[in-house]
Amino acid sequence: MAREIIIDRCVCYDRSFAELKSAIGGDTVDLAEIAKRFGCGSCCGVCRPYMERMLETGETVFHQILLPRDDHQKA
Ligand code: FES
Repeated sequence: MAREIIIDRCVCYDRSFAELKSAIGGDTVDLAEIAKRFGCGSCCGVCRPYMERMLETGETVFHQILLPRDDHQKA
């Protein structure tokens, strides 16, 4: 039986995307601002594409691997 991928947090800072979304509220922020406020994205950076998607769509749980934008554009 296949296991479902569930990605829902910045592992380095143990903050869920739902928690970040709630803390951000209606503020207009970018990844740099999230890193400044919460640290998320400033360590390994694996969470950055997910937070970017969260800012665009409001999603906080992901079931697929997302690559950094630069990698998408090179592919
Ligand atoms: S998972 Fe967010 S900085 Fe590493």
